Amino acid sequence: MNILLLGSGGREHALAWKMLQSPLCKKMYVAPGNAGTAAIAENVALNPLDFAKVSEFVLSNAINMVVVGPEEPLVRGIVDYFQAEAQLKDIPVIGPSALGAQLEGSKTFAKAFMQEMGIPTAAYREFNTKTLQGGLDYLATQTPPFVLKADGLAAGKGVVILNDVAEAQAELSAMLGGKFGQASEKVVIEQFLSGIEFSVFALTDGKNYLILPEAKDYKRIGEGDTGLNTGGMGAVSPVPFVDATMWEKVEKRIIQPTIAGLGKRGMNYIGVVFFGLIDVAGEPYVIEYNCRLGDPETEAVLPRLQNDLVDLFVAASKGELNEHTILQDPRSAATIILVAGGYPGDYEKGKPISGLDRIQGSMVFHAGTSLKESVVSTNGGRVLAITAYGDTFPEALVIANRDAAAIRFEGVYYRKDIGFDL
Ligand code: AMP
Ligand code: GLY
Repeated sequence: MNILLLGSGGREHALAWKMLQSPLCKKMYVAPGNAGTAAIAENVALNPLDFAKVSEFVLSNAINMVVVGPEEPLVRGIVDYFQAEAQLKDIPVIGPSALGAQLEGSKTFAKAFMQEMGIPTAAYREFNTKTLQGGLDYLATQTPPFVLKADGLAAGKGVVILNDVAEAQAELSAMLGGKFGQASEKVVIEQFLSGIEFSVFALTDGKNYLILPEAKDYKRIGEGDTGLNTGGMGAVSPVPFVDATMWEKVEKRIIQPTIAGLGKRGMNYIGVVFFGLIDVAGEPYVIEYNCRLGDPETEAVLPRLQNDLVDLFVAASKGELNEHTILQDPRSAATIILVAGGYPGDYEKGKPISGLDRIQGSMVFHAGTSLKESVVSTNGGRVLAITAYGDTFPEALVIANRDAAAIRFEGVYYRKDIGFDL
């Protein structure tokens, strides 16, 4: 098969690496890709949001499957675009329709969905510009911390947690006043949940599902989970506190009703449902849904997946996932993300990277890198993902930390405490 993978991060490098192991994969294109994907596949200078250009490329290069890495093309309806065109509709696109992608694209949609399906999640209220005063009054009746969420996609910045009621009210006014543009025309205020978070991924064909290895990611920039939120600073898989009892609750109370709900709501969902979960005193709750694989979780999860991923995607597109079972590598995998100095605030790009030839034992997935005149340089905030295996996650982390230390570029930073809370 000829496969086109959309995206340019560490998740996409890991996806390309994994799919290239499949005997079904003849040719892999990545659009736009990075220096890591350029080394194993063919990068194509295409914007994943330009559906007309993407479909032109698909037709002129005899692409047999499109795999969508990030959420934005899905939320904007790439699947629906393909289905509406006679020449494209039989080419599987791995990812949900725009309606299914609303699970990530709209917090109010996701909350209403969970409420309807009886899926445990934080209690909430929804406000818009017309009901701002109601929201301000509501906040005054609540106890801190206050959790405010912009309804739409806000580049990971749409969730604000505040302890002071006046600050929370000011934030609500700012959000509904257009702080995140259209994305905050509606705001969800929800109950604060206290516990430890983990990420679960289900590959679904809309009716059957397969559970991929779970992971825990580390979102804060600073050690000890301090400082600003980032796209993710590291991950481990499996997650030791997710035991058989927890799995049973997660599957029965969360995964099964979610997959049943996809059918009930008539969503055309072929792809991954990402469950951002929190363990509150032994009970799992959904913090958020995403409509694609997580980053950096993917860089720790796919190395532990022993199945042929292309084969699974083909089965998903045919509604035949019930004929497969997931095979997990018994080893642990741990990922450390190397970021540019200043990230998640302002940072510079174009810093030459050295030390890639000194890696011993880890896999390096490129996130924000580019290749110019055979020099690999930084090209984003999150630059590289270093993944290692170990019999336990601390053993994996020893290798990943040692290899992380071998990489050099101006301003390089990474957390040395991934897994500290496990
Ligand atoms: P989200 O974008 O919905 O995943 O939110 C980003 C982060 O905010 C989550 O990973 C949590 O750490 C935190 N968060 C979101 N909702 C809640 C909540 N109801 N209670 C506590 N923390 C939350
Ligand atoms: N690691 C969280 C995400 O991909 O959104």
